[in-house]
Amino acid sequence: MAREQIKLRFFRSWKCSITNTFRICYARYSTADTKKILSEIPGLTSLPIIGPLHHFLPIIGTIGPTGNFHQMVGLMHKKFGPVVKFEVFSRSTMVMLFEPEHFDKVFRAEETNPSRPGFETLDYYRSELRKNKFNGVYGLTTAQGAKWRDFRTKVNPALLMPKLIKLYTPLISEVVQDMVKRIDKLKADSDYIHSHFNEEITKFSLEAVALVGLGSRLGCLEDNLPNDHPSRQLMQSSKDILNLAFKLEFLPHPWKYIPTLTFKKIIKVFDLQWSISEKYIEEAKKRINERGYNVPEEEKSIIERLLAVDQTVAIMMANEMLLAGIDTVAFSIISILYHLAKNPEKQQKLREELNSTESKRSYLKACIKEALRIWAVIPGNLRRTTKEHHVGGYIIPVGVDVVAPNQYLSNLDKHYVRAKEFIPERWIVDKTDPLYYGNTHPMVTSPFGFGIRSCIGRRLAELEIELFIAQFIQHFEVSWDGPPIKVVTTVSNNFSKPFNFRFKSLS
Ligand code: HEM
Repeated sequence: MAREQIKLRFFRSWKCSITNTFRICYARYSTADTKKILSEIPGLTSLPIIGPLHHFLPIIGTIGPTGNFHQMVGLMHKKFGPVVKFEVFSRSTMVMLFEPEHFDKVFRAEETNPSRPGFETLDYYRSELRKNKFNGVYGLTTAQGAKWRDFRTKVNPALLMPKLIKLYTPLISEVVQDMVKRIDKLKADSDYIHSHFNEEITKFSLEAVALVGLGSRLGCLEDNLPNDHPSRQLMQSSKDILNLAFKLEFLPHPWKYIPTLTFKKIIKVFDLQWSISEKYIEEAKKRINERGYNVPEEEKSIIERLLAVDQTVAIMMANEMLLAGIDTVAFSIISILYHLAKNPEKQQKLREELNSTESKRSYLKACIKEALRIWAVIPGNLRRTTKEHHVGGYIIPVGVDVVAPNQYLSNLDKHYVRAKEFIPERWIVDKTDPLYYGNTHPMVTSPFGFGIRSCIGRRLAELEIELFIAQFIQHFEVSWDGPPIKVVTTVSNNFSKPFNFRFKSLS
């Protein structure tokens, strides 16, 4: 990293802290009421260099050693109450709000300009380190303000119109059929399923998102996929990015000042992920040019629709689909299969609906919502404040990351009757039933985020998941032997092996 860049970043962070000090003083002396300021919010304070790590030490730490984010959130709630501060060395101060009315108020007030800091390392990579390549187009995951709004306005119709997304049903069904055949073959080798099931499902999600996004099969489901196959590298890159970003951005790390080994590693992975997706995108563009644009709507891939709007936006969106659309869908599918395996009577009820003439498939949709309630891919939602907020007796200034701990709240009996149990019925029973989901604040569970900045891939993800679960449950009886599945939380939730699934063919 050039010295000038390091100096510039140091100056920026210094300028930021001076500005915040002024804001805090202003807030303290200008408000007539008795609201408390940011520094008075209880929570995890930060020390120089080690950040909040001392809180996690055995015996003397206020939280104690816990490797689990979900558990840590619970401990902080019990210890500090409904408004909790959390300072991480290299990030803005975070304030976690445990009352849905509180984060509802902040998120709604931020809807005019929703800012969600994505990966700061990716942001730095696109906006500074490789700025000549990206030329001011940063994609949805890292852009903010007017740049984000302009990009999002261009891509919304192609990705969020239910009618357009539904056109991909035959293509995705074709990939699901191949996956069913593959599991039929692999299930004889239970050792392989135990240790590689997540990899297999990730191959499905990559194959499906690439087919819809770029209009061609990558071949991920072929037998004996070579280790250096670009699709394998894409899958590995998206995992590496999540793991390395967690180390750099959520644990104490000086990457903003010193280009450490981990920082150099993530830059290498960003380069690799970009070059592989660029190769696939170039191939897609070539195919489209050779074939011409005058083809029926149902045959157009998403990149084809977007190329007609804006070439640069189309390329960046295709790249982000290959980054954000793989592990998210795979995690959700495994979670739903696991809950159905552990609840055989619910699985049978679902199978009956799927084998009936009922076309609405409301129980299928309820099973998906229920699994995403218990384990969301991303355990909380976040907005960086662009204005001052008054909530829970505190003044939250500009530039603070306000976190809604949705997954933690969704698993509390305070919000859902028998919250830890998998009960899809809660999403379909009527108002008079105590299980009725509508008795809960609507912001408690939001696996796809909130408002105009919510997940752009939601419709596509839902279609992929519905088609996958429907065909799988019709074809296999799924069971689970052994101890509960392990969930590891970093930036997002992941499952770790062993995968004790058993699949019995029904046809
Ligand atoms: C079950 C699967 C998925 C889940 C649970 C999920 C969840 C989320 C969440 C919680 C957010 C943040 C929203 C917010 O801040 O309000 C998000 C954003 C995003 N997701 Fe997804 N996602 C999924 C699948 C996908 C897929 C398949 C794609 C690609 C096609 C995708 C692309 C994105 C992008 C690009 C953003 C940033 C949107 C923006 O800032 O405007 N996601 N997702």
